[in-house]
Amino acid sequence: MPKLIVVTREGEESTIEGETGLSVMEVIRDAGIDELLALCGGCCSCATCHVHVDQAWADKLPAMSEDENDLLDSSDHRTEESRLSCQLPFGDALDGLRVTIAPED
Ligand code: FES
Repeated sequence: MPKLIVVTREGEESTIEGETGLSVMEVIRDAGIDELLALCGGCCSCATCHVHVDQAWADKLPAMSEDENDLLDSSDHRTEESRLSCQLPFGDALDGLRVTIAPED
């Protein structure tokens, strides 16, 4: 299974395996990392699944929708690396992806 590297807010890094077809958010939640709240369950309406994605991966990610862009605008912690992890389908193409959970708003 493809691997996902997750860095928590405390800087703790772990490598987890993720099922193809899940979103990055679901992979993180399934691994028991519960500081990623993902309150809306992945329907792009809460922004509590905000992560910072390593720049090296920027080209491999799907384009950002207008809704995702608007939601990220509501965060004080938006950077060029910001994405909503529920909007990123995980799979072999993202094997080795490294994301950092964004600070809480
Ligand atoms: Fe709510 Fe991603 S889980 S926007």
